[in-house]
Formats: sequence, structure tokens, C-alpha cells
Amino acid sequence: MSRASEMFDISGKVAIVTGAASGIGRAIALDLAGLGVSVIAADIDSTGAKELAKEIESTGGRAIATKTDVTDRKDVEQMVQKTIETFGKIDILVNNAGIIARCSVMDMQEEELDRTFNVNLKGVILCSQAAAKHMIESKSGKIVNVGSSFSSRASVCNLSGGGADYCASKAAVHAVTRSLAMELGPYGINVNAVAPGIVNTPMHTGLWEMAEIYYQNTVPLGRLAEPEDIADVVVFLATDAARYITGQTIHVNGGQIMVD
Ligand SMILES: NC(=O)c1ccc[n+]([C@@H]2O[C@H](COP(=O)([O-])OP(=O)(O)OC[C@H]3O[C@@H](n4cnc5c(N)ncnc54)[C@H](O)[C@@H]3O)[C@@H](O)[C@H]2O)c1
Repeated sequence: MSRASEMFDISGKVAIVTGAASGIGRAIALDLAGLGVSVIAADIDSTGAKELAKEIESTGGRAIATKTDVTDRKDVEQMVQKTIETFGKIDILVNNAGIIARCSVMDMQEEELDRTFNVNLKGVILCSQAAAKHMIESKSGKIVNVGSSFSSRASVCNLSGGGADYCASKAAVHAVTRSLAMELGPYGINVNAVAPGIVNTPMHTGLWEMAEIYYQNTVPLGRLAEPEDIADVVVFLATDAARYITGQTIHVNGGQIMVD
């Protein structure tokens, strides 16, 4: 095997993907499994996670499903424990689970604010803490967080963009990516984020047509994203080819936002 092939080869690794039952998480899990990675499909939607794990196994891959609410420390610890019991290690954690809210600062209800930050930010921190303990022991690991290009934009409440709490929560994900990269770098652990533009997933059910009309012409590459456009970059960040990248947010938006 050439040096470059070795760097891009992630077969035999073990990856936890949160929010794997749908959209971008599902595409990431399928990509990883197709490359010979054992996948833990973690989602609050246990039916969707189980279906995905079955689909991966039916095509010769290795996967298990866990019902995990990323906001619940006990659930998260069980997810990590099940991973270790089943596959013996954790090489990759993809913090993908996220929810969107579409309200303005002035209309925001406290419960909605708490929910958005609990899933989008606290979930990233709880899962990273639990998985990184094992990565620290093995002195290697890759954590990839799914942020958003809306982290640096004002909220767009009535379209497919996020509301004020969503935008703020994703900016926080990018910030925590940098802090984690500083803390975990000495243990050989890379921590990065991807910031997708608008992606065609169930997150935009009922709004996709409007989003295409509104945003399409603002993308230099001429189209909005499909989940696989994002998944492929996440997979790259999980390989050793990305070994000298850490604390970065990679924008995956067809050129829609040229500056952050
Ligand atoms: N779709 C987009 O345009 C877009 C753009 C930028 C960033 N993102 C981010 O990408 C990630 C995936 O979004 P998507 O578009 O695939 O959405 P999606 O709604 O299709 O999938 C989200 C998944 O997360 C799961 N989930 C929700 N709350 C959870 C919890 N508490 N614990 C565990 N799982 C939970 C859901 O069950 C679902 O399977 C999110 O973090 C989202 O913010 C999406």
C-alpha cells in the first residue's frame, strides 16, 4: 500500500455517529461503513438507528444501534460503554445530532432556547467528554463536530435558515471545537468541525422548495448541498490524511460564504 493510500485508509476503525438515523448523520454512517469502519449509529430515534444498522449489516458492514439522547449524560455514557463492549475501542466520534429552531430573539421562549443549546452544544460536550476518555488512553482519536454556516450569519426565521438560538448554538460548537482541540492535541486527538451550508435533509421538510428559490443563486457552484457532500468531508477529517488539521472549521457550502 502506498503512503497516501495508508493515510486515507480508515478500515478497521470504530466510529460513533450521533444523529445517525437521518439526513447528514445517516450519510456519514453509510460512508464510514462503506469504507470498512464499524459504526455505532446513535440517535434519540431508536427505530431509525436500528433500521440504519440493519441496512449497513445487510451490505456486509458492521454496525450497532443505540438509543441515545445526547443531552442525557447517562445515555451518553451507555453509548460509549456499549461501543467499548462491542468493538473494544473508539477511534472516531462524529457529533452530528442537532435540531433547528426558527425564532427571533424577541420571540424566543426559554424552553426553546434551552432545548436548542442542550442538543446542539451540551450534546457535543457530553459526547466528547465520554469518548475522549478512551481516546486519551489510546493516545489517538478524531472528533468531528457538525456546526453550520449560519454560525456567522444573522438568523433567518421564516426560511430554511436557523433562528437566533440555532445560529448562536452553532457558533458555540465552532468555539468549543477550538478549545477541545487545544486540550486534546497533546494526546494525539484531532478535533475539527464542518460548517455545512443548506443541505437537503428532513430538517427542511416543507421548506426545501422555498430554500432552493431563495438561496440557490447565491451558491457559486450552482446548487444547494446533498448530505453526501458534507459526509465526504467529515470522513476526510476522520482519516490520517487530515492528521495535521486541528481546531479548524471547514466550510462546506459550495462557496456560498467566502469569509467567516
Ligand atoms: N440540513 C442543513 O441544512 C444543515 C446545515 C448546517 C448544519 N446542519 C447540521 O447538521 C446536523 C444534522 O442535521 P440534518 O440536516 O441531517 O437533520 P435531520 O433532522 O435530518 O437529522 C438530525 C438527527 O438528529 C437526531 N437527534 C435530534 N435530537 C437528538 C438528541 N437529543 N439526541 C440524539 N439524536 C438527536 C434526530 O433524531 C435526527 O435523526 C445538525 O447538527 C444540523 O444542525 C444541517
